[in-house]
Amino acid sequence: KSLSVLRVGEKDYPTDDYTNVTPKIISYLNRNLHLKKDNPLSLVRQRIVNYFYKSFTNRGNPSFSVYDNLPPVVTTKQNFDDLLIPEDHPSRTKSDCYYVNRSVLLRAHMTAHQTELLRSGLDNFLMIGDVYRRDEIDSTHFPVFHQVDAVRSQLREQLFENHPDLNIFEPIYDPNNPNAFTNSISDPAKQSCHTLEASKMMETQLKNHLIGLVKVLFGESIQYRWVEAYFPFTHPSWELEIYYENNWMEVLGCGIVRNEIMVNAGSNNSIAYAFGLGLERLAMALYKIPDIRLMWSTDSGFLSQFQNKDVDAKITYKPVSVYPQCKNDLSFWLPPTLTVETFMNNDFYDLVRDIGGDVIEQVTLKDKFVHPKTKKHSLCYSIVYRHLERTLTQAEVNKIHKEIEIAATNAFNVVIR
Ligand code: PHE
Repeated sequence: KSLSVLRVGEKDYPTDDYTNVTPKIISYLNRNLHLKKDNPLSLVRQRIVNYFYKSFTNRGNPSFSVYDNLPPVVTTKQNFDDLLIPEDHPSRTKSDCYYVNRSVLLRAHMTAHQTELLRSGLDNFLMIGDVYRRDEIDSTHFPVFHQVDAVRSQLREQLFENHPDLNIFEPIYDPNNPNAFTNSISDPAKQSCHTLEASKMMETQLKNHLIGLVKVLFGESIQYRWVEAYFPFTHPSWELEIYYENNWMEVLGCGIVRNEIMVNAGSNNSIAYAFGLGLERLAMALYKIPDIRLMWSTDSGFLSQFQNKDVDAKITYKPVSVYPQCKNDLSFWLPPTLTVETFMNNDFYDLVRDIGGDVIEQVTLKDKFVHPKTKKHSLCYSIVYRHLERTLTQAEVNKIHKEIEIAATNAFNVVIR
């Protein structure tokens, strides 16, 4: 493959064997839906930011900084290494992330900015923006979504204002010589460097703070539960679920920031909690928006329902009208080099999205088949087409479907059945 460059954002990057970001995905980069004032994501963002400002003020001044305009192109160091995500962790794979090249990718979570902001001396901040993940295609998944991430750090004097006898760190841990101590996470309750008091105090504050947030958003009577979780960058870690339309829905991940991260960022004397939540899920539940693609709509029938509204107004989305779906199957034989197990579904989903764009509502793997005699492998995908703002004709759908067949043949060397 010849050496080439790829323009992402305002910069050119050399490509390599890791490059898998597509022109379609790059086209989402400057949309900034979370900052568009008539977009539901922006309303939820404002409500969350307001809640933070109300919860934490210092003599009337907000004690939080908000970063909602950080560029989404980050290094693997920012997205993974700085967060102690191991080299062989599945979240790093090409089939899960959009890589610009081996060392640069579109951030897969807002936590990618945590270390650099801590290092710049901040202790309390929010990071809000678009994140990119390769995933299946249906009404609740889109390769771009939006997250609010937060860090709240406290020094001993703040955390134990009323208990000057208590410490953040165990006596055997020396904050002036942090690297001499190996911090273990084998105790489910806390990191070995922290005292139980400090860890529990932070846990209580974190949980109260987040329950307060879901109550502000969904009302006092919202049912919720905490689920033990694992993230490489926090310990202990939890997920918060709320009971919504007869299901437990996960809304956020959180935990106590690993002390190694704090130390590497130059913050030796404090303990911090962090969380990350997805805006799309909250907006879909709050406003009863049935399809995640609607967030990207530029149609006035959609946007006008969120325009000039008080951020706390109760809004229930009314479908402008529902246009019919069109379903088409696509089956192909794989080349001898591939099997039904090794073929990358996400590669196919990206190709479908590249060609079909936003009229693709859903793609599902319908059938895997190995021919008993020839041993040839075949896959069948079902593609659901639906335009959000008008009716698609069968002829239009057939044309896109044909283009997908041709592109799949060229990209994967498959033979359409
Ligand atoms: N980054 C995590 C995610 O995207 C969420 C998270 C943020 C969890 C901060 C813990 C602390 O799922």
